[in-house]
Amino acid sequence: MKITLIGFMGSGKSTIAKKLSEKLNLKLIEMDKMIEKKAGKTIKGIFAQEGEIAFRQMEIDFAKEYKNADNVVISAGGGVVMNKIILDYFKENNGKVIFLNTCFDEIVKRIGHDSSRPLFQDIQKAKELFDFRQNLYKNYADITIETDQKEIFQLIKEISMKIN
Ligand code: S3P
Repeated sequence: MKITLIGFMGSGKSTIAKKLSEKLNLKLIEMDKMIEKKAGKTIKGIFAQEGEIAFRQMEIDFAKEYKNADNVVISAGGGVVMNKIILDYFKENNGKVIFLNTCFDEIVKRIGHDSSRPLFQDIQKAKELFDFRQNLYKNYADITIETDQKEIFQLIKEISMKIN
């Protein structure tokens, strides 16, 4: 089984991927962390020193490297929908892509003060990016999960039911 969680920054991908991996006994893979490890610097550092285009290429490389992964839950970066090829790689090996749909207000509450996300420093710009990506997430995903007003245990239950 290969499951990938996509969604905007702050939609809960990491938290849910961790719980899901425990429940389904799958290996947890944090895309951002793997990229940071390989690059030897933080996401913020990569954006500042090498720029967003270089970072997007690292995302493509990651997805390609893991295209045949099995028994994994991948928590993807929020920007993977900017390159369709990444989604194609995620879907290889019978991969299921799950979109966690969270409203923008909730996202601001969660990460509005976080300085580690280069693309969430200006709320207005982040909202534009959110609006722009919304359809991409929906269209690329095999399954969409509405997360608003739901507890984690409910989300895990819902996802487990929908992937079977
Ligand atoms: C990004 C999302 C971040 C990280 C980078 C770019 C984006 O991941 O990959 O800052 O373009 O939405 P999270 O969604 O895990 O915060």
